Amino acid sequence: MLSIGAVAAVIGVALALVIDWFPTRASGSAGEIDTLYDVLLIVSVPIFVLVMTVAIYSVVKFRARPGDTGDGAPIHGNTRLEIVWVAIPFILVTSLAIYGWVVLNDIEAKEPNTLRVNVTGQQFTWTFSYPGEGKVRSARLVLPVDRPVEFHIDSKDVIHSFWVPQFRLKSDAVPGITTRIRVTPDRIGSYEVVCAELCGIGHPTMRVPVQVVSASAFKRWLGGRLKAAGGGAAAGGGAAAGKQVFTASGCGSCHTLADAGTSGNVGPKLDELAAMAARFGKQRKESAEEYVRESILDPRAFTVPGFPKNAMPTTFKGQLSDAQVDALVKYLLGVSGGEGK
Ligand code: CUA
Repeated sequence: MLSIGAVAAVIGVALALVIDWFPTRASGSAGEIDTLYDVLLIVSVPIFVLVMTVAIYSVVKFRARPGDTGDGAPIHGNTRLEIVWVAIPFILVTSLAIYGWVVLNDIEAKEPNTLRVNVTGQQFTWTFSYPGEGKVRSARLVLPVDRPVEFHIDSKDVIHSFWVPQFRLKSDAVPGITTRIRVTPDRIGSYEVVCAELCGIGHPTMRVPVQVVSASAFKRWLGGRLKAAGGGAAAGGGAAAGKQVFTASGCGSCHTLADAGTSGNVGPKLDELAAMAARFGKQRKESAEEYVRESILDPRAFTVPGFPKNAMPTTFKGQLSDAQVDALVKYLLGVSGGEGK
């Protein structure tokens, strides 16, 4: 039994270590976290094998024979065995907890020159702002390589979970609470924020791009965003402003709109919005503009047939200013071929 168990444990540990469980490492703490994971596997696989070997052996060896209805032998415990099976797990679990705490302490350590990024989850997208960098807002996450980042995460509606697998970080986004997590991206490339908490019908589409770029490229990007924000405000309700509202509010994660390059399919295709607004507006005795405005601010009032009810968030009402809604309505009707162009 012992030799079978030993062989099975060796094979199990080898398999656990050979399998590539995680994607590319793209943060300073990823290596440490992967090592922790490997150590946990090395410790737990032999224990699992030991328990299963003893259990299977006992089931086969000591099973009741046909017709045997007698009681088993009375056993009054074994003090030495009990001390061993309490002491060993206690030592193991305590050492692993200390090891885990050391790693956590290390990856959570404060570092100078930290970039703060606010992350907001909402059904069904993520938005980002850079409060220390001119309050730039963005619908994708752009980060400079090798600079520590502290994320401040919250949610506008339900619980989401902010996860970038390549960074090995994950933190819940909870309405009313700001959760924090630190990471230092150390590999230039394109990744994805994934929502890791079932949050509604659009949950599987709640993904947005992450780009880790050089420090100079990050500076250029920030400069561009600042200019765009200034220009948008100056244009005051033009198509560019409407498009910016569309992008920054995350509409594209649920709606397809060719002009904005989005392909969400939770809600109706907005390339056909003007036609829909004419048709359903008539039905509801509204102008096309009134129909679109109502669909954004009071989405429960009417749902386009064939689409899930109650999927569109109701949070845009408090979130968008009148000017932003005007710009968005004009933009959407304009690019879908209606009035307001
Ligand atoms: Cu947000 Cu799942």
